[in-house]
Amino acid sequence: MASYLSRYRRRILCFCSPCILLLPVYIYVSVVLCYVMKHGASGVPGARVVHSVLPRHFIASGLKRSRDLAPHPEKSFWRSELESGALWNIIQYTTDSQYNPILRPHLAANSSSVPYTAETSRRTGGGCFPNYEINQTMPDFADLPVQMKNFVTTMHCRDYPLIIDPLEVCHPQSKQWAPTLLIAIKTQTANFENRQAIRETWGRSGKIKTLSGRQRLVRTVFLLGKSEDLDIEEKLLLEGEKYGDIIQWDFMDTFFNLTLKDVLFWDWFSRRCPHALFIFKGDDDVFVRTPAVLDYLLEVKANGSFSNGSRQENIMERFVMGDVIHNAVPIRAKLANLAGFAKYYIPESFYKGLYPSYPGGGGVVYSGSLAHRLLEVSQRVHLFPIDDVYLGMCLQRLGVYPIHQPAFLTFGFPKDEPKEPCAYHTILLVHKRSPEEMFQLWFETLTPSPECRNAPLRVKPRPD
Ligand SMILES: *[C@@H]1O[C@H](CO)[C@@H](O)[C@H](O)[C@H]1NC(C)=O
Ligand SMILES: *[C@@H]1O[C@H](CO)[C@@H](O)[C@H](O)[C@H]1NC(C)=O
Ligand SMILES: *[C@@H]1O[C@H](CO)[C@@H](O)[C@H](O)[C@H]1NC(C)=O
Ligand SMILES: *[C@@H]1O[C@H](CO)[C@@H](O)[C@H](O)[C@H]1NC(C)=O
Ligand SMILES: *[C@@H]1O[C@H](CO)[C@@H](O)[C@H](O)[C@H]1NC(C)=O
Repeated sequence: MASYLSRYRRRILCFCSPCILLLPVYIYVSVVLCYVMKHGASGVPGARVVHSVLPRHFIASGLKRSRDLAPHPEKSFWRSELESGALWNIIQYTTDSQYNPILRPHLAANSSSVPYTAETSRRTGGGCFPNYEINQTMPDFADLPVQMKNFVTTMHCRDYPLIIDPLEVCHPQSKQWAPTLLIAIKTQTANFENRQAIRETWGRSGKIKTLSGRQRLVRTVFLLGKSEDLDIEEKLLLEGEKYGDIIQWDFMDTFFNLTLKDVLFWDWFSRRCPHALFIFKGDDDVFVRTPAVLDYLLEVKANGSFSNGSRQENIMERFVMGDVIHNAVPIRAKLANLAGFAKYYIPESFYKGLYPSYPGGGGVVYSGSLAHRLLEVSQRVHLFPIDDVYLGMCLQRLGVYPIHQPAFLTFGFPKDEPKEPCAYHTILLVHKRSPEEMFQLWFETLTPSPECRNAPLRVKPRPD
């Protein structure tokens, strides 16, 4: 009997002890659940409280040295304050957080209806006064080159009025008469010969025959600021009257003001030529094989349109192509070096970090619909002195990746490349060419010799 009982007891113990051991766990879980349900529910409106305790950055604590692992950094290895110490990063950080879709979903969703506080606060309709107090934010302000000083004190200004505004370039109301390609050339008042050569060769306005024999409408405009030479300014006025293709704004036409030509051109485009399918924007010393570019762009458009419209919109809204430069490092050498890059000098007190990928400014093509989006996003990107980098910064905030086009030779032909008779028939763009060379190349490429007629576009990436 006793042995029977003890065997029975052992079995009870066997079954119940796990239950007894687990009891505290059950109790703990139910208490926690109760707590979470009670406080979690009321915690949703109080999310702001939770959010304010979060650190501004997540910082990896880093690992200690271990014999089994490769050496790791012992301190935090994420820079926690990239935005501190560089003027552009500081002010852009504030603006970026303002429009951060996670931190502020309402603002981000309604971006276009939100007044732009950071920039508009200092924007003025008529005049815009330099902000000399900015020197307090930049410790080395006094040592900066003049162009950097000028940029920094006026970087809050971007609403410069038009001096010459051609009205006849496009029919803004009519989609049917919209150009397939709007060519916008950055030029300066004195470069009359370049403009004339472009007008008579690759930038001719009107119906242009593509290489494959189709006819498409092309319009050309020239983008200018003002110069100090009143004589030349007067001539420009006459030139504008004669050709109707000059757009001039009331700012000094300097290298560090080139970005203004982008943002002001996007604004002009949205009002005066909003239905143009594609835009080419480039320098006045490049040669472009416009008929071949047109064929290429028509293919881009057709490629997108085979699946009932929706895909086409997507491709068109994101289309931007050029000679794409990745991971570029800002030029930190103040004095002219062998490459003569001093004009690109950006001090560390102004910008920290790499540049985003950007298509080189010598020539870039994007769709009209992307230009509308660029105008919108540029309202929340502070001006940057280098115009093609600025385009990259805007594209980055739109989540758009520029397409690299090996046939855009914005650095010219590779030096070690043997001369090929059909070389110019494999490219879409080449820098840098004089007005005389533009005429010569235009007639040479317009009527290709039989062996060059079907030369394919070059696909080899640029050797870095
Ligand atoms: C966006 O703006 C519209 C009108 O400007 C407003 O009715 C709507 O509530 C806003 N949406 C959000 C998410 O704030
Ligand atoms: C900034 O410039 C003003 C004059 O424009 C000068 O009085 C002041 O000392 C400068 N401040 C710094 C920190 O350099
Ligand atoms: C840009 O133009 C404005 C207006 O003419 C001028 O005040 C400013 O100094 C210019 N900026 C640069 C960097 O030249
Ligand atoms: C169009 O699509 C074809 C097939 O997918 C592709 O080979 C070609 O490169 C595309 N052309 C352009 C201009 O994107
Ligand atoms: C586009 O959609 C319509 C209706 O949804 C359909 O009738 C048509 O066949 C589609 N076209 C193509 C090219 O898929």
